[in-house]
Amino acid sequence: MSLNTPRHIAIIMDGNGRWAQMQGMKRVKGHEAGAEVVRNVTKYCANHKEIERLTLYAFSTENWKRPKLEVEFLMKLLDRYLQKELSTYMENNIRFQPIGDLSGFSRPLLTTIETVEEKTKHNNGLVQSLALNYGAKDELVRAVNTLVNNKIKVTETTLNDALDCPQQVDLLIRTGGDHRLSNYLLWQAAYAELFFTNTLWPDFSTTELETVIQQFMTIERRFGGLK
Ligand code: FPP
Repeated sequence: MSLNTPRHIAIIMDGNGRWAQMQGMKRVKGHEAGAEVVRNVTKYCANHKEIERLTLYAFSTENWKRPKLEVEFLMKLLDRYLQKELSTYMENNIRFQPIGDLSGFSRPLLTTIETVEEKTKHNNGLVQSLALNYGAKDELVRAVNTLVNNKIKVTETTLNDALDCPQQVDLLIRTGGDHRLSNYLLWQAAYAELFFTNTLWPDFSTTELETVIQQFMTIERRFGGLK
């Protein structure tokens, strides 16, 4: 039996829109409430030293298809969140490292992203990665192109290291009731334990996260081998 804490937790934060609509509010209010949960979950992970990395799906390559106003709201929320949370990153020794194709974002938002990344780069506790304009297929294509352009032979190791996120995922959680990976960390999740919960992201709590981690710790991971 493995009693290891997951070193890398990845989360698909789904259900913001439904949460808001169920309460008669606009969908974007769900994203606002979701941002609070991002802060709580990040602080929880930062306070559990065995957890090295937390990777959160904040904006996918497909999310651009949403109504323009919702996309604009998400961009502003992200900008506000990063500026406001810089103190949380510093107080909790968290390093912020975005993954995804950042070339898709506006210059002002890019400046905020780069500033927070730069200011937190010497923090050596939890790495909090926000997946921004992220899609696993896009990440793989960009990584392969990097190797080809640099005339590097493609092997599991070289390809892994050329990815935005080079660390395998131990525990992948999806909130909001759907049972799919939605183009998230497909390579890194090769041996991840998958947990799906009906809880909508704004209702997800650190207590539920703790329960999932406890369950994870009882699972025997064989990575394709035998006991
Ligand atoms: C899915 O909910 C969530 C997103 C597309 C974006 C995730 C964003 C946040 C959690 C808030 C902002 C994050 C940061 C880091 C500031 P959905 O809208 O697809 O919900 P639905 O399935 O109920 O429609």
